[in-house]
Amino acid sequence: MFKWYEEAKSIAERDPAARSVWQVFWQYPGYKALRLHRRAHWFEKRGLHFIARAISQYARHKTGIEIHPGAKIGKCLFIDHGMGVVIGETAEIGDYCTIYHGVTLGGTGKDKGKRHPTVGNNVLISAGAKILGPMTIGDNAKIGANAVVLKPVESNTTVVGVPGRAVKRDGERIRQSFELDQIHVPDPVSQEFSKMREEMDKLNRELEEYQVLFERMREKLCPALVDEIKKEEAAMKNEE
Ligand SMILES: CC(C)(COP(=O)(O)OP(=O)(O)OC[C@H]1O[C@@H](n2cnc3c(N)ncnc32)[C@H](O)[C@@H]1OP(=O)(O)O)[C@@H](O)C(=O)NCCC(=O)NCCS
Repeated sequence: MFKWYEEAKSIAERDPAARSVWQVFWQYPGYKALRLHRRAHWFEKRGLHFIARAISQYARHKTGIEIHPGAKIGKCLFIDHGMGVVIGETAEIGDYCTIYHGVTLGGTGKDKGKRHPTVGNNVLISAGAKILGPMTIGDNAKIGANAVVLKPVESNTTVVGVPGRAVKRDGERIRQSFELDQIHVPDPVSQEFSKMREEMDKLNRELEEYQVLFERMREKLCPALVDEIKKEEAAMKNEE
């Protein structure tokens, strides 16, 4: 089977709104962007960056999907609706993934070289989700709508929210409240007391150091005065 047909067919099978493979072929922006990206990537790999970029910008203009020519994309990616999708230069996407509109596979601005995520096979990235940084998203993971993912995601895991947190793994809910130890919760009052005690110990130590320093300075600067004070102290002791 031709590769282009296989990809269009897999999209038609996954989208309940698709009427036929030909509809996908002619009218699906995600499919168009993918075909154009394959061409752009071909030129990019051969060092023809200008042509590659021109094709990618043409695809962006036509579909609202911006895929950097350097991005590595596996087979049968389905970009549904497409508008506002951005896929960065060093991003890698496995086979049979689904991406909705408004998704960014981007960098955080802190990394150099590999800056964008590596997405496994059969991953679903919902509308508006942002995956930022060179982390890995495991196979069969689901990223919830509008989630912002900044850390690696294990396989078969659903991640939602900002910042993204795992809520399901292997079909089982991850209950945050169950994972929290409800019995051995630290007492906030005793924590405050021990903080105050630490602070007082520190101040006492500092005071002792200053006292020693002061004594030394007094002995050096006015030894006569020190002798006089010592004599007075001895006299007071005798009187007692
Ligand atoms: C994440 C998603 C794929 C569902 O994955 P799932 O593994 O089946 O997870 P569930 O639906 O069982 O949800 C698990 C938990 O996450 C919560 N959740 C699901 N999606 C969420 C989201 N986008 N943001 C915040 N919380 C979300 C659920 O309320 C549930 O919480 P609970 O355990 O307290 O009840 C789905 O919710 C989603 O975001 N789909 C959007 C798809 C999309 O972009 N469609 C656009 C079509 S145009």
